[in-house]
Amino acid sequence: MRNVILIGFMGAGKTTVGEALAKRYGLPLVDTDWLIEERAGMTISEIFEKKGEEVFRRTETAVLETLLSDPETKVISVGGGLPLREENRRLLKQLGTVIYLEVKPETVWKRLEGDTTRPLLQGGDVKQRVEEMITARSPIYREAAEVIVTADGRSVDEIVEELEERMG
Ligand code: S3P
Repeated sequence: MRNVILIGFMGAGKTTVGEALAKRYGLPLVDTDWLIEERAGMTISEIFEKKGEEVFRRTETAVLETLLSDPETKVISVGGGLPLREENRRLLKQLGTVIYLEVKPETVWKRLEGDTTRPLLQGGDVKQRVEEMITARSPIYREAAEVIVTADGRSVDEIVEELEERMG
């Protein structure tokens, strides 16, 4: 079996669905944000604040390269902005089967209301920003993905079942 990779916007449920898929297939789950935090010895917010987004984005690419040289099959949940770099999309395709968990802006607001861990969603008109970011990113996510699944209003079990059917 190839690695299973989950991409999508913040709050799409990549880690939650990833956990369920990992359990179902008996595979370990890794999340690129966890790996970055481990490397840096800092939280994502601290990295953005102290080193800047550019350093964070470079670390995302470095983490993908490390995962590519790891022979153990995994479920990999990927930070929402990682697929935006073309180089990363190329690496993702090499790494395994890429699944895009698609969500509407309303789903994101509801899930992430009061969240303080995502530096790109702090302050200002968050609803408008989420809408603009999803509009800008969704064609890129679609381009990066082999399988696209809707996550709005669906349970984790429903999503996992659909993915199992579609991935074989
Ligand atoms: C980001 C998504 C976050 C995290 C960082 C930037 C983004 O990951 O990598 O805050 O640009 O969409 P999640 O998608 O796991 O929230």
